[in-house]
Amino acid sequence: MRTLVVIVTIVVAGLACGPAPRVDRTGRADTVAALTGDAAAGKAVYDANCGGCHGAQGKGGVGKSLFPEFNGLTNGEVATVVLNGQGLMGAKATLSDQQIADLIAHGRATFR
Ligand code: HEC
Repeated sequence: MRTLVVIVTIVVAGLACGPAPRVDRTGRADTVAALTGDAAAGKAVYDANCGGCHGAQGKGGVGKSLFPEFNGLTNGEVATVVLNGQGLMGAKATLSDQQIADLIAHGRATFR
């Protein structure tokens, strides 16, 4: 009984904490989110840097499915993942702010 209480407490505490928050260590995510992306320009950026793992339509492959539309993430959250990486995905901080805004616009227009 005592063991059960301990296990339940740990599980509830874990659920309350939820997934680790996405932290932007670059300080660039807000800037990216404030930009207006060009979906047409973003297709080339996405295909070259993301499509190999996430698929041309964002439906996944090696990388997680981003369908539909980045799984409900805001532009700032997507930018944070791109700039900082997440789990097995490495950071893509060499992309410019505008390139990231563009690939986000491409995904919003295409992954649906
Ligand atoms: C080397 C393969 C790879 C590349 C290249 C890659 N990703 Fe990922 N991506 C992943 C993996 C794997 C995850 C899941 C990470 C985790 O949560 O453990 C992920 C997660 C994500 C997430 C979070 C999804 C969620 O629901 O939590 C977003 C957004 C994302 N990637 C966007 C992109 C974008 C945009 C690019 C291009 C700039 C890109 N990724 C390039 C493998 C990749």
